[in-house]
Amino acid sequence: MKNKLWQGRFDTPLSADADAFNQSLTFDRKLFDVDLDASVAHATMLGVCGILTKEEAARICEGLEDIRRDVAAGMPVSGAEDIHSFVEGELVENIGDVGKKLHTARSRNDQVATDMRLYVRGSCDEAIAALKDLIEVLLVRAKEGVHYVMPGFTHLRKAQPVNCAQYFNAYSEMFLRDMDRFAACRKRLNVMPLGSAALAGTSYPIDREITRELLGFDEISQNSLDAVSDRDFVAEYLFCASLAMAHLSRLCEDTILYTSDEFGYWNIPDEYSTGSSIMPQKKNPDLPELVRGKTGRVYGALVSLLTVIKGLPLAYNKDLQEDKEVFFDAETTLLQCVSIYAALMEKITLNVNAMFDAAGEGFSTATDVADYLAKKGVPFRDAHAVTGKLVRACIASGKKLTDLTLEEFKAASHIFEEDVLAAITVRASAEARNSVGGSSVAAARAGIASVKRRLKKY
Ligand code: ARG
Repeated sequence: MKNKLWQGRFDTPLSADADAFNQSLTFDRKLFDVDLDASVAHATMLGVCGILTKEEAARICEGLEDIRRDVAAGMPVSGAEDIHSFVEGELVENIGDVGKKLHTARSRNDQVATDMRLYVRGSCDEAIAALKDLIEVLLVRAKEGVHYVMPGFTHLRKAQPVNCAQYFNAYSEMFLRDMDRFAACRKRLNVMPLGSAALAGTSYPIDREITRELLGFDEISQNSLDAVSDRDFVAEYLFCASLAMAHLSRLCEDTILYTSDEFGYWNIPDEYSTGSSIMPQKKNPDLPELVRGKTGRVYGALVSLLTVIKGLPLAYNKDLQEDKEVFFDAETTLLQCVSIYAALMEKITLNVNAMFDAAGEGFSTATDVADYLAKKGVPFRDAHAVTGKLVRACIASGKKLTDLTLEEFKAASHIFEEDVLAAITVRASAEARNSVGGSSVAAARAGIASVKRRLKKY
């Protein structure tokens, strides 16, 4: 391990076990590129403001880019306390004493806060792009499904027929909200802490507008104590990721149910299924189960960070180093899960006949019977009761509502006429719900158009 940036004040070096415990390079090396970006911007600004000479600043920037090249070419990122010490150590080794001027008017506290914002900003963009890919796949499924009807459930009991496109659109709505949330998180985090130094600001005549512009931040932070210790944006990202995982886990659950023998609505192709080591017949939905399970990791990351920041005294505390591993893990998990699910949803096949047949089971058009009466003037509550009795009679005689004769309907209420039989088919039921967002083909088509329109923003 190289000498510490702070060694001057100490008689003896940090013990090996303390060093290993204290270090963050094994995980904050992921910040390498953004750390260089921020350092180049800082050095440039120091040069413009005359805090360093133009030549010194240029030499430092060149040196930083050389390190970027060396690492890209395979130089190991190791042997330092953290990524900031690593970069500074390499810089001084390569360009000599002038490299020691890089840290003028800066602290690792505003440096790491800036790096994290730059990194999470990129992560928001990646999450948005991944969710967009997933919605594109769902839109293809929706387009294919627009002429098909499937059972809609409440309490996991067949409730009313729904349009297949409407079903897929429901998930697109959730993922669109997730995209909006990541975009809002990105916007809110795009405030630059650099220039706050350790906690109190700096006595050098820096120009924070220069670094803000160079790093693409919208604003500069207005309180140095807050700026160096604020990790709200990491918590926000983790919340956005948690909710996206919640939505994904619901789709997983549907996938697991719908591909079971008991439902049989969808098939997962062999390339995305797994088997059992003992039961030769098994075809298991391991991928959706894993994604559902990984939701817990992402929630864990959120709770972990919220607990880390709770009760921290102002300003920077080393506890904040604990933002990184949970964040990186959650980020990787989210991107992996969204991308594997886009691939899976592209490959599933729909058993449209099985879905259609199932949509007619469980008296799923009973509401249409009641609506039929209500539309002819019977108060809905009375219509509900009449229909309930018909359902009871059907259960007793082992019939479906569509098996009943007109005489049987009339015996329940004289309001029923011949046209009731056409009004209570599965198709008619789905088509009847033409309200915005409803199950008719036209409404489902409009739903697809609406998702597409909002997706275009991204
Ligand atoms: N590795 C540290 C972190 O992630 C960098 C900041 C260190 N600052 C300090 N004052 N020790 O938070």
